[in-house]
Amino acid sequence: MSAATAEVVAGFDVKKVRADFPILSRKVHGLPLVYLDNAATTQKPRAVIDTLTRYYTEENANIHRGVHQLSQIATDAHDAARRTVQRFLNAADPAEIIFTRGATESINLVAQTYGRTHVGAGDEVVITAMEHHSNIVPWQILCEEKGARLRIAPINDAGELLLDEFEALLNAKTKLVGVAHISNALGTVNPIARIVEIAHSKGIPVLVDGAQSVPHLPVDVQALGCDFYAFSGHKIYGPTGIGVLYGKRALLEAMPPWQGGGDMIRSVTFEKTLYNQLPYKFEAGTPDIAGAIGLGAALDYLSGIGIENALAHEHALLEYGTKALEAIPGLRLIGTAKEKAGVLSFVMENIHPHDIGTILDQQGIAIRTGHHCAQPLMHRFGIPATARASLAVYNTTADLDALVGGIHKLKEVFA
Ligand code: ALA
Repeated sequence: MSAATAEVVAGFDVKKVRADFPILSRKVHGLPLVYLDNAATTQKPRAVIDTLTRYYTEENANIHRGVHQLSQIATDAHDAARRTVQRFLNAADPAEIIFTRGATESINLVAQTYGRTHVGAGDEVVITAMEHHSNIVPWQILCEEKGARLRIAPINDAGELLLDEFEALLNAKTKLVGVAHISNALGTVNPIARIVEIAHSKGIPVLVDGAQSVPHLPVDVQALGCDFYAFSGHKIYGPTGIGVLYGKRALLEAMPPWQGGGDMIRSVTFEKTLYNQLPYKFEAGTPDIAGAIGLGAALDYLSGIGIENALAHEHALLEYGTKALEAIPGLRLIGTAKEKAGVLSFVMENIHPHDIGTILDQQGIAIRTGHHCAQPLMHRFGIPATARASLAVYNTTADLDALVGGIHKLKEVFA
């Protein structure tokens, strides 16, 4: 993949996209920012920043509570954001979209409601070896409480799920499968539709951690057939503190509420509380109104670019970056799945990932180093940490050239 082809995806102009993100023109240590830490969080386009500013400048009020005009405007905007999420995921019904604080909270919600209802002593929950801590620890907490067992589907050395071994783990005791759509540390894209098909053939529901996927590939929850899908706003060009849990209506209806308080009730007496209809049953307390509206703006922005265009652009960059990094002596990519998204995790001979990150930072290049909240995965590869460059729609081949140049410079430092 040449630089020219990597940046020429029909109908997509990366320079124009970059101009939408004010922070990309700032400097770091006096040098132009090269932002390659998008799996941790993405930058925000002007459309999102302006939406948040307008909301607080002109529309701020609490929702579902006031007869006054501002409350109605805020409520309408919040409802519209929910419908935007519904369309973005192709969910059947806005009531299937629960706003949360992020993917982590979404998964905890399912563990504490669906999980506590359906998982008992001796039961099993199956996850994979490539999960983020957010899709491990909530199930550990549940299994410890219930006397259930957490089982781990293995991966190969490329970081691909071993589907046969996954299938062999499922049995009559399995009450839920939890799986990342895309691994944050490896970039592996899991075959979710196939995983769902296998699990459903045994009557087991599937929760998908979509934190790393919704920003980078089209997601259609009805086509995937998954039962729950979780993601975070801040990884898809939206604000922090807002996230989404999609759940199939019948499952959500049958689940008990999680947190109690305002908005999740229909009526309260000291003797008995009746709960609100979906989705409010799971949204106790004043929600992050601005966050939801900002998330709606982010999804509209990405839809305007076209998620297929983003996918094609990032894929071209991934190929370009993979070839460039593979050519560096002493550098080893961690995560080489055939189906892969824009994550370039690597280790280098005799240079600790932390040093890689620190020296790249001095050159204005932002990457993440460490275990990426996936310590068991690091153990699987026999390493404590990696350096990770992760891509977004505004990245360019020049960013990757800067990364490669930076790595050559740090090799000189450590020579
Ligand atoms: N989960 C985020 C990451 O992978 C924070 O960096």
